[in-house]
Formats: sequence, structure tokens, C-alpha cells
Amino acid sequence: MGILGIDIGGSGIKGAPVNIENGTFLQERYRVDTPSVSTPENMAVALQELVDNFAWKGKIGIGFPAIVRDGVAKTAANIDKSWQGKNIVDLFSKSTGLSVAALNDADAAGLAELRFGNTYNNENVVLFLTVGTGIGTAIFHKGRLLPNMELGHIELKGKDAEQYCSDAVRRRQNLTRTEWAARFNDYLVHVEKLVSPDLIILGGGSSKKFHKFKNEFTIKTKIVPASLLNNAGIIGGAMHAHESLV
Ligand code: BGC
Repeated sequence: MGILGIDIGGSGIKGAPVNIENGTFLQERYRVDTPSVSTPENMAVALQELVDNFAWKGKIGIGFPAIVRDGVAKTAANIDKSWQGKNIVDLFSKSTGLSVAALNDADAAGLAELRFGNTYNNENVVLFLTVGTGIGTAIFHKGRLLPNMELGHIELKGKDAEQYCSDAVRRRQNLTRTEWAARFNDYLVHVEKLVSPDLIILGGGSSKKFHKFKNEFTIKTKIVPASLLNNAGIIGGAMHAHESLV
């Protein structure tokens, strides 16, 4: 069975029809730029381009970069502030004419990695991190998600942590990988104390370069790159739609 999974990020909107039985893509993934003014109206136009690309008529599941409760965006850290309080599900159901479900993007990616990736071995507490425009976090206990954990916004060095060590900050401040990794290690040391995870899985764009900076990390917790790389958010969005839409 196929569901169109869509991962909305700070720089790109990516999607593919997903076989939710095994987490594979039924067609090649497609990407459009996130509109520079990322208002709900502009995002709806961009999302439609994806829907049209696949001539999609079925269910849609969206990973969205904010706290998502009952389909409503409660925050807007890296997207247009007018999203705050917007019903994502209503908006995209109306704009596409299709059945839509939405959840936090890191929650989506974590769900997919634990189900279809090869990094999870029944550890008790798993912390899944995505590092991109922002820092997304998802916590699992015995494989069950505790939704909307926003540990990317804890205070670190007097700042919002994601303003100190996201991948966007690395690019904006021209940090070398090693410089960035030292900052990210400060972050890991802090969250390790807060969460005491048995395993940390690093997702998002940075996970592809994991071997280049892993030696900078001093935490005791085992940390591994996500095996589904950047596709996890798409797959997790589709899984969520499958589980929540009738
Ligand atoms: C948002 C999170 C999101 C993360 C990654 C953060 O700024 O607050 O909800 O998961 O970015 O996109």
C-alpha cells in the first residue's frame, strides 16, 4: 500500500510515495525548495508541486518542523511565524483535496528509523536527533515515541542550542566540520545528562558525514548515524498517515 510521505524542512520539501509495509519508495523522491517566505499559503503551493509531480490521489503524511498537536502547529522556529496556531492538516487537506495527517519532523524520522533502519536493537531509551536548519529531537522508550520533545531548544552557552550548533549555524558562521563537531559535542554532553539514553541516533544531512567528525564526540553513550539518512522523515510521515487516517 502506498502513501505519499512528505518531509517539510527549512530549506527543502521532499516527498515520495512510500510502501508502508517495508518503508521503501515506490517512485523516486522529488524535492522543491521551501519558499523563502514560508507562509502557509506559499507552502501550500510548493506542496502542490509535489502532489502534481506524482499525480497523487491517495493519503498524504507530513513531517513538519514544529510542535504538532492534533494537526496544529504550535511553534514556528524556522518557518514563517504565521504558522503558529495554524491547522496544518486542515490547510493541506483543503489545498490538495486529499486526506492529510501531520506530525513533528523529527518524530517522523525517528519512527521510520526505529521501524525500518538497522540502528535500533531494542535499547530501552533512544534519543533520535536531526541536525539541519534546526535541531530536531525524538525520544523513544521501549520503541514507543514520546511526541514533541523539543530538546533542540534547551539553553546552551547562553543560547538556544540550535542557534549554537545546528548545521545552518555551521554554514552561516563558516565553521569547519571539526569546529562544528566540538560545539555539537557540548550539546551531546548536556543532553546525555538530561536524558540518559542507551543509544543516540544522528539523522539529518549531517549523518552522511558522520565518519568525518565522530572522533570529536566525548560522550559515553553509543552514538550512530541514522541508516535511512535523509529519507527517514518521508517514510515516517507516511507511516503516521497510515496509522492515523481511516
Ligand atoms: C523545531 C522542531 C523541529 C526541528 C527540526 C526545530 O527548530 O522547533 O520542532 O523538529 O527544528 O526541523
